[in-house]
Amino acid sequence: MRRKLYALGGAGLLLGISATAVCAQSVEPMSPPPPPEFAAQSEPIFVGISDILEYRALDSYSEPGWVTENFVNAGRLPPVEERLPAEPMVYKAANMPDGIGVYGDVMRHVIGGRPEGWNYFAGQVQGWGGIDIGMYECLTRTGPLFTIRADELEPMPNLAKSWEWSEDGRELTMHLIEGAKWSDGHPFTSDDVMFYWTDHVLNPNVSPLGGATPESFGEGTTLEALDDYTIKWTFAEPFPTQYLYQMAYGTFCPGPAHILRPHHPDYSDNTYDQYVNAFPPEFMNFPVMGAWVPVEYRPDDIIVLRRNPYYWKVDEEGNQLPYLDEVYYRLSTWADRDVQAVAGSGDFSNLEQPESYVEALRRSADESAPARLQFGPRTIAYSLHMNLSATGWGDPDERQQAVRELNRMTDFRKAVSIALDRQRLGEALVRGPFTAIYPGGLLAGTTYYDADSTVYYGFNLDAANALLDGLGLEDTDGNGIRNFPADMANGQDIEIAILTNTDYETDRSLAEGVSAMMENIGIRAIVQFQDGNAREAARQSGRFDWHIWREVSEVVTVVQNTVQLAPTGPRLHNFHRAGSDGTMELLDFEQEMVDIVNAFIRTPDLEERAELMKEYQRLFTENVYSVGLTQYPGALIINKRFANIPAGAPIFMYNWAEDNIIRERVYVPADAQSSNELHPQTLPGEPGGSGPAS
Ligand code: GLA
Repeated sequence: MRRKLYALGGAGLLLGISATAVCAQSVEPMSPPPPPEFAAQSEPIFVGISDILEYRALDSYSEPGWVTENFVNAGRLPPVEERLPAEPMVYKAANMPDGIGVYGDVMRHVIGGRPEGWNYFAGQVQGWGGIDIGMYECLTRTGPLFTIRADELEPMPNLAKSWEWSEDGRELTMHLIEGAKWSDGHPFTSDDVMFYWTDHVLNPNVSPLGGATPESFGEGTTLEALDDYTIKWTFAEPFPTQYLYQMAYGTFCPGPAHILRPHHPDYSDNTYDQYVNAFPPEFMNFPVMGAWVPVEYRPDDIIVLRRNPYYWKVDEEGNQLPYLDEVYYRLSTWADRDVQAVAGSGDFSNLEQPESYVEALRRSADESAPARLQFGPRTIAYSLHMNLSATGWGDPDERQQAVRELNRMTDFRKAVSIALDRQRLGEALVRGPFTAIYPGGLLAGTTYYDADSTVYYGFNLDAANALLDGLGLEDTDGNGIRNFPADMANGQDIEIAILTNTDYETDRSLAEGVSAMMENIGIRAIVQFQDGNAREAARQSGRFDWHIWREVSEVVTVVQNTVQLAPTGPRLHNFHRAGSDGTMELLDFEQEMVDIVNAFIRTPDLEERAELMKEYQRLFTENVYSVGLTQYPGALIINKRFANIPAGAPIFMYNWAEDNIIRERVYVPADAQSSNELHPQTLPGEPGGSGPAS
């Protein structure tokens, strides 16, 4: 069906080439058309960070009655006050949308990902959909920042409860929570932080899932432990406050050194492969600092997590969090997540695949619908990434190398871009005011976006064909497909693989759309379908020509993951990394973009920052750095029985909604509680144990 829709546009290669009169000058830059109006359905209540939380000792603490009775009184767990740090994180009641909560119930997630294992720190996927977000805590936290007033915007404290800068701004001293414990009762200290830094970030043989490398924190940056609860960063530049964002989810969430170290190749006979795979999904009770601990796993069925008895956050009345005793994740598909959340057999979904929008909206409109559905800002976007490495990232063969040479030509990227009818790409996903043309770079409607600095080359097949003619890419054998020049890849047909994640219908639709539209300019673009984990492995190792990419936080917020806006380090960027010799050959405008990003990180001056990002956006879009496809809003679907869901929580901004809504504070009022818990009144295995709780 969908293919047919695209085929209608098939002006055909011959037609395009015969129009030789059309020359490249007709590729006129213009402003992108304004996105259709689409108002978010609720606005956040803006506050300061200190309105949300503080760290302090309370007079007394409590926990679910069954924990005291069955575990503490039975001598299986120390009393709650001994399990908490000296000064736990305290969430303030005034900032809780529905106030202090009650214990019990479960949040039933449905996900399309599959777990590779628990070794996030060595790059393993847990299945996405919020599993890792709920298990691993990070030095700082950014998800809830959508609710922070602009003049107080900075990452929230988390495992690092406070920090101060030296006078010259080159040293940042951070104080960790004191006396907190991993979910197995082992103390959390700076040793865990240093093990993450030294043996994962600095070690080029192993990469945490979020892809942290030394440059994620600035070239030349060092980290040391001053004592068990104090760490000190030293930076080459003064006051690079930007890196506080890099210390949040994705790039600085330390793992349990006491469990991981004995398996790490630097401390054992293991290979790196053995280290990565040392904690398969079947391994239960993997120690975490997060609110829930894995206690059950059945392949292609479910992952169940129960409350962490050592969790270090409380409410103002001293109730140890989380309120929810359990979270679980049905291992299904992402589309099923929408269906189940709307139907009430699941509790949560980020409605993000436009193919489901109409049906989800229709079914949620009913007063008696079990879930509420709320659209947020247009923060979901897709791009086509072209591999720009000239130095062997991913070990390209001759054809792949030739494709990269094309990818590195601005006229080639421009031709591909203007051969795409973005209006149709968007409408093929969903009709209505949802999708908007995305020229690439920063997203329309976000803080640093400037329409006047955004260059858009409109859909123009004739001009696209003329650009390719101009590059000498002719159809030498008359089969309708252009050929590489004779000295590249033996002059064979131009064939390009589009790496695509099959876990998402949207990724597939867009890839098929792009592929069909490429026929019109004589390029054979073949969709290369891979499941999420295989796609991620291929992407991370540079084994792709082109790649359909759902954009991430840097193009939404700019301040989160800023270092990834350009190849600021050899192993950082999404589509341009160094080969095995560690070198990169940056294109001229890329070098300018790197300089801009570094200047942005250096300056706290808001006006200067805005100017720098205008220039960044101009360079990005003028040179078609990557080919933007479409952008649209997502909706958060949450079962109506949950309380404390913050107003205006976007499904994606600094992080995904699973972080944004502060799940440890979410609860179900007593009269609304379900009996859906799978392992009621159990805790993860006994301290130090590794068997399932039940
Ligand atoms: C996947 C989903 C997102 C979100 C994230 C959380 O990517 O598609 O909606 O749940 O996982 O990591």
